[in-house]
Amino acid sequence: CKDYVPETTAAKVQGTLRKLRPDAAAALEEMFAAAKEEGVTLSTVSGYRSYSKQSLIYSRKVGRTGSEAEADKLVARPGASEHQLGLAMDVQCPDTLTLSSNFAQTDEGRWVEENAHRFGFIIRYKEEWTDITGYAYEPWHIRYVGTEHSLAMQQSGQCLEEYLGEVQQ
Ligand code: DAL
Ligand code: ZN
Repeated sequence: CKDYVPETTAAKVQGTLRKLRPDAAAALEEMFAAAKEEGVTLSTVSGYRSYSKQSLIYSRKVGRTGSEAEADKLVARPGASEHQLGLAMDVQCPDTLTLSSNFAQTDEGRWVEENAHRFGFIIRYKEEWTDITGYAYEPWHIRYVGTEHSLAMQQSGQCLEEYLGEVQQ
């Protein structure tokens, strides 16, 4: 919805646009610190985004791709992004300014894939889930769900839609 604005705080980590909800920001700080200890330096690219910022990104993507159908695979419509919830962060290698699926093949991307769940994050849009999520593969987009759920989802191999379907039953 248009008016939803979460409480956010800037995570004390390397990178740009570091705002997240406080619990997610704290988890991100832990994750980045653990990565560093394990020899991997991560950087943020984009966390919390307002409704109007998401509108701008979405309409720009419609312009670039030429259609709403194509844009819808890449960017959430305003009011529907996890970034507006303050629960999603796009992460990258330091010095990489663009988000690319090449991230998955980097040491940093592999570390995130293997370890994000330890800190309550999930890779939200995996390649094998595009039919379910409706979004293209985004190895850089992590969403905070808390460790109870991230560990359970890691165990079951389910995406959020499948997992939520199951917990509601
Ligand atoms: N790129 C993701 C899907 C978003 O816009 O929330
Ligand atoms: Zn994202």
